Amino acid sequence: MRSLQLLFAAAVALPAVLAAALPSVSALALNTPFKTNKQWIQDSTGKNFTYVGVNWPGAADVMIPEGLQYASIESIVSKIKSLKMNVVRLTFAIEMIDNIKDNGGDVTIQNAFNKALGTTNGPKVYQQVLENNPQFNEKTTRIQVFDAVAAELNKQGIYVHLDNHMSKGAWCCGSGDGNTWFGDTYFNVNNWKRGLQYMADHGKSWPNLISIGLRNELRSGATNGLPYNWATWYDQVIPAADLVNQANPNILIFLSGLDYDTKLEPIATGADLGSGKKFLLTNFKYANKLVLELHNYQNDATDCGSMESGLWNNGFRATGTIAANIMPVVLTEFGFSQAGTDYTKTYATCIKKLMPQWKTGWIVWVLSGSYYIRSGTQDYEETWGLLNHNWSGWRNTAAISALQGMIDASLKG
Ligand SMILES: *[C@@H]1O[C@H](CO)[C@@H](O)[C@H](O)[C@H]1NC(C)=O
Ligand SMILES: *[C@@H]1O[C@H](CO)[C@@H](O)[C@H](O)[C@H]1NC(C)=O
Repeated sequence: MRSLQLLFAAAVALPAVLAAALPSVSALALNTPFKTNKQWIQDSTGKNFTYVGVNWPGAADVMIPEGLQYASIESIVSKIKSLKMNVVRLTFAIEMIDNIKDNGGDVTIQNAFNKALGTTNGPKVYQQVLENNPQFNEKTTRIQVFDAVAAELNKQGIYVHLDNHMSKGAWCCGSGDGNTWFGDTYFNVNNWKRGLQYMADHGKSWPNLISIGLRNELRSGATNGLPYNWATWYDQVIPAADLVNQANPNILIFLSGLDYDTKLEPIATGADLGSGKKFLLTNFKYANKLVLELHNYQNDATDCGSMESGLWNNGFRATGTIAANIMPVVLTEFGFSQAGTDYTKTYATCIKKLMPQWKTGWIVWVLSGSYYIRSGTQDYEETWGLLNHNWSGWRNTAAISALQGMIDASLKG
């Protein structure tokens, strides 16, 4: 917001003829489609692009991007823009697509709030959403809110990375939530693939969609799922990637690893995944669309050196020149409480050092200062949120200036 305000102030102070020469918001041309070239991600002009962004959740019980009962989409996007971030990781649940495909069409947001929050609070929150976002009405459906978020991000020159976060819409992630692994209680593999195809195809109408993550934080814990190992990963993830690429050949496909997406080592090294299966980029017709993603939450770390070697060995080595599969790796989740001074601790300062050092992209968890509902608690306070509870401003301006330093360093690289 700061930079836009400055631009506006300058425009007012200048004679009209000069002001007209200033770049307008629409001059923030988005250069899609993207591709990869070794460990670099490049836009359609061939320029390197570093993901520098924030997670905006939309995969919990209501299955609508969070925060709209407190602020307009436009004002939320302006805050992201004011930090000069260039991408938003927008999360969605497969259940939203199941409803579209199997239950007679997309659910209206009015019904979605009633269902998730009950008939006392649901209508109240729905009314607040309409007050802040008067372009919506009783006919608006969930996917139309995703469309509106993507459109506003596009308007303000920010790209979209879609992420399939959950199958059933709910807070993620635990080992007993039924969404852990292929075949778990709610993790129906066919519905998952169908949902990915649907979103990849639907996203063709978003000029700023650059990529999609196939699944957030795979993990053990499935009661009756497929065996938890790399061979299963290969058998499930590769056909899903093929389907997504067929549905929308333009977008990058992000592959996540095991153990809450902290491990991707055999993908970087091309090691045997079991039964002789190996992940080798040379086997893909769309090798220049594949990206790896990792998460890191070593919040109690005291030694940056061991964090660095851990991250490298667990997958970032794919960005090194001697990996079997040289590919970009993006840290699509890391984060910490914004409430105190965690931004000064080893974990935060180490990530802040490593990302620009490796010239690698990152997406911080999380934008939301609160959730419509999380794990049964309505209007849940999110102390890790960059924004405050009512989404009106930053939660901790000192933590935000530290983050700004990391943003600037990453964009400069
Ligand atoms: C991308 O960045 C790397 C590392 O700085 C550099 O070696 C490479 O030439 C860049 N590619 C382009 C197209 O600028
Ligand atoms: C939003 O939260 C901020 C910070 O807690 C507070 O100062 C402000 O009054 C709140 N605004 C509204 C409309 O509740």
